[in-house]
Amino acid sequence: MISSPDVSSAIEEPDWDNIRSRFPVLEKKTYLNSCAYGALATDVTDALQRYIHDRQEKGTDWNYWVERNDSVRNAVAGLLGADADEIAVTASASAGINSLASALNFDQARNKVVISAFEFPTNAQIWYAQELRGAKVVRVPEKDGQIPVEHFEAAIDDQTLIVAVTQVCFHNGARLDIPAIAEIARRRGALLLLDGYQGLGTMDFDVHQAGVDFVVGGMLKYLLGTAGIGFLYVREPLIESLVPTATGWFAQSDIFAMDTTGYNPSPTARRFEMGTPPVPNCYAAEAGLKILEDVGLPAIEYRIGELTAAIIAEAKKAGYTLSVSDDPARHGALITIRTHDEAALVGILDSQGIVTSGRFDNLRISPHFYNNEGDIDALFRALRQQKHLLV
Ligand SMILES: Cc1ncc(COP(=O)(O)O)c(C=O)c1O
Repeated sequence: MISSPDVSSAIEEPDWDNIRSRFPVLEKKTYLNSCAYGALATDVTDALQRYIHDRQEKGTDWNYWVERNDSVRNAVAGLLGADADEIAVTASASAGINSLASALNFDQARNKVVISAFEFPTNAQIWYAQELRGAKVVRVPEKDGQIPVEHFEAAIDDQTLIVAVTQVCFHNGARLDIPAIAEIARRRGALLLLDGYQGLGTMDFDVHQAGVDFVVGGMLKYLLGTAGIGFLYVREPLIESLVPTATGWFAQSDIFAMDTTGYNPSPTARRFEMGTPPVPNCYAAEAGLKILEDVGLPAIEYRIGELTAAIIAEAKKAGYTLSVSDDPARHGALITIRTHDEAALVGILDSQGIVTSGRFDNLRISPHFYNNEGDIDALFRALRQQKHLLV
């Protein structure tokens, strides 16, 4: 998170109130649940209506659909600082991880997959499934709501084929030290996959600077799109050597060759795609990513830094127990507070028009740049009446 005054003064702050007015749900609800689902912008509603309009106007137009898929590819490349040829547009993060896993050979000296205790289920289960193909999964444990870099140092070794870790933990909001993990993976000759689902869209990110080989993410949350669409980034020099066995016609060198005599994967990261693209979702994703591009990730990161700092300050003032570090370098846009009964607390808040969520006894509070201090005041006013549910 940006905390230096030098950096803040260099950022041109957008008109946040004006931007907020493009998210109608914020007029009805105190919406602090972007870690689960981003708020729907009018731009995205318009894009989904455009999909219906285009279908009615064009009937069937496959080439136009491929163009929509490619627009998302370009926008994701812009988000990550990558080349469009390094991006596969997928139906989910799981689809990207599965396609990548299918291209890896575990039947060799390097067969270890290192994951962490902070993974979203999909980035653990898919790797455990590879144990049926010879992989050996090692899960790096946490300590007091963090995973110290030394734990990765101990787990990543010369037998490690790939390290697959989250950028920000979905259940407590902890942020892993990705540059340090990348350095260890590089030193040990292991590949590194980043699950950016809870981080991308909240912070300025450059895939080359991060030093990772693969990134997966999805458009449902901080990227402002919708469910049913995600992406996989593959670092260019690796593409040629990775041949997915989970595939489909949109992964072929020539999509419309309709060849049923063999398998001819695309020379680009499109080889990690599968079947018919999630076309309506492409419209929504494109519109969501355009908002992020227009507002700018440095400004978004700065604003989220202000909002998360305000949440932490309020929680401390009230004497609640944070489940995540108060150090901006160690948490994402998701701030968590310990509760005795997450379901009851989330339900009570919801009945008062305050949308949050819970996981593993944590109340998840996840602002995006469209939130304001009024939202935080409303939440903490409501929490004061529920002290008995907070630790
Ligand atoms: C960190 C993380 N990874 C992945 C996902 C979802 O993965 P998929 O697109 O496969 O449903 C989520 C949330 O739903 C998540 O929080």
